[in-house]
Formats: sequence, structure tokens, C-alpha cells
Amino acid sequence: MDVTVTLTVNGKAKTITTDAERPLLDVLREELHLTGAKYGCGEGRCGACTVLMDGERILSCVTPVAQADKKAITTIEGLATGDSLHPVQEAFLAAGAMQCGYCTPGMILTAVGLLEKNTNPTDQEIAEEMNVNLCRCNGYTKILNAVRRAAEKRQR
Ligand code: FES
Ligand code: FES
Repeated sequence: MDVTVTLTVNGKAKTITTDAERPLLDVLREELHLTGAKYGCGEGRCGACTVLMDGERILSCVTPVAQADKKAITTIEGLATGDSLHPVQEAFLAAGAMQCGYCTPGMILTAVGLLEKNTNPTDQEIAEEMNVNLCRCNGYTKILNAVRRAAEKRQR
């Protein structure tokens, strides 16, 4: 059944009429041409499709677009301000925490969501939160370092 949803994506209001069950990821990529969120597994097991909905990390491949009605969505495209990267993006760059880049947008958004609610997470808390985001090349040590670096920078 089609529904009309109004959502705010990276600060811009969007209205879309589509199947209520259509995954938000599909709408972001195919309708709004925001291809930063990636299709990995399509069943909530890899984190490549991670975006923020009202500041909370969600897996957009298993989130029906109807659930995003009247919500604020943030994708990787919405993090930088002009030419200035978001501090978490900077931390990933500085720590060399990406290889393929396919998983990176989801990793970064999970980290952004974590640091919004917990400004000084322990390594265990970072690992638990990032647990849903898989990196096939096993770059977890650098990813942990990047999130820690971003958290420390926030404290200063
Ligand atoms: S593509 Fe969504 S969790 Fe893998
Ligand atoms: S950097 Fe993307 S899977 Fe490892």
C-alpha cells in the first residue's frame, strides 16, 4: 500500500509517495540519490546501511520508509559543514580507519550517534555499539582508535 511520508533528510524536507514497506535505504539511494548509505546484507546484519533517525542509529535496509515519517534522517552526506568534515570523519581519516570505504559511512554514523548520547565511552562501550557494523578487512583496531580519538577531541 502506498503512503506519503514527509521526512527531513540532512536538514531538507522531502515528501515521497511510495510503498509503506519499502526500505528507507532504497528511498535514500534511489529516490534521493544519497548513495553514502550502502546495501550490504539487506537483512540487518552488517551495518553498511546505517543512518541516524532523530539522532538514533538505525539500519535503513530493515526500516520501512513509513517509520521515517516526520523524522529527521542524517546520512553521511549530511555530516560535513561546507568544506569542514565532521570531527568523527576527521578522526577516521587521521586514524587511517578505512580501507574499502564500503562500511565506513555506517561506522561513522554509528560513532556519531554514540558520542551524542555518551560523550566519553569506554573501549567496551565503543566496541558494543560498533558491534553491528562489520568490516570485512578487520580494521577494528583502527576504527576503535578513531572513535576514541573523536571522543577525546570532544572533551577538550
Ligand atoms: S545492508 Fe543493512 S544491515 Fe546490512
Ligand atoms: S574498511 Fe570497509 S569492510 Fe573494512
